[in-house]
Amino acid sequence: MTSAILLVGGRGTRLSPITDQIPKPMLPIAGLPVTEHQILAAKKAGVKTLVLATSYLAEVFTPYFGDGSKWGIDLRYAIEKEPLGTGGAIAHAAAELNESEKETVLIFNGDVISDHDISAQIATHQKSSADVTLHLIQVEDARAFGSVPTDSQGRVIAFLEKMDQPITNWINAGCYIFNRAVIDSIPRGIVTSVERETFPALISADRRIFGYKENSYWLDIGTPLALFKASRDRVKARFSAHPTAHIDSSALLSGGTFIGAQATIASGATLDNCIVSEGAVVAESAHLSRCFLAPGAIVKSNAVYKDRYMSIEKNLPITFI
Ligand code: GTP
Repeated sequence: MTSAILLVGGRGTRLSPITDQIPKPMLPIAGLPVTEHQILAAKKAGVKTLVLATSYLAEVFTPYFGDGSKWGIDLRYAIEKEPLGTGGAIAHAAAELNESEKETVLIFNGDVISDHDISAQIATHQKSSADVTLHLIQVEDARAFGSVPTDSQGRVIAFLEKMDQPITNWINAGCYIFNRAVIDSIPRGIVTSVERETFPALISADRRIFGYKENSYWLDIGTPLALFKASRDRVKARFSAHPTAHIDSSALLSGGTFIGAQATIASGATLDNCIVSEGAVVAESAHLSRCFLAPGAIVKSNAVYKDRYMSIEKNLPITFI
């Protein structure tokens, strides 16, 4: 395994207004963008070349990740003028890889935080001579997801849409291993969804689609509830802060709050389960709960906010769905 494609070009509608200025994969979880968590996981699994498939707010990624040398990987960019959907994005990004780099490709939905063992997923893929191997995760209630039943050998037998009584609670976790032949079969330049078109078509054509089942920590951060949960889970303490943050000793931070670089938290402020980006300021005795502060946001003294998105220009409610 030498290469990977990260799908990071979606609009992130469900996280609006947080995603109006920051693309979903760049949202910070415990101080690192989701994409950086994924790059680190890919690197651990031996990935050396990685393509970021960007579209919406594509310009935000390059200044942060550059050529990838900071992470010891060869990082390339594939920018879609118009979003091509998850399948079209894979076909478009694969053009940045040469034939041998395309042999076995790790593909990540850019909004997933996962601790699963990617090397074990690759081993399963190779052992079963699969065309595609999907990471599957078991959820308590699969009604909100499409479900993915497998046979006793782990071979995927269907890719089912959401339903009231799912026949299995194993769902697609958004991390795949693709063979070159499958990548090459996705039409170029056409909007295509891997979930709705490519996978069902491959199953109908009797191709070897396998599931890799692992129930380690996994979260799709696509909704506000999940975003704040991921932050709370990954901070793993009452709070965490960048070393350059200024936090008054009388401030009370809880619920896995993260304070970014050069941010200031003044005396008497309380913050519960908040994400505070770099350079933001929370003045004296402000009380914030489940708020996202964009870079440079300013919260006035004594302000009391719950479930808000704040930037330099805006102060908007976040709708929890
Ligand atoms: P919602 O609008 O809230 O559904 O979010 P989304 O646009 O991110 O869609 P979704 O969660 O279904 O996407 C899953 C992953 O694929 C995310 O990481 C997206 O960034 C990515 N993605 C979705 N559509 C495209 C696309 O057209 N191009 C690229 N490059 N990535 C995409």
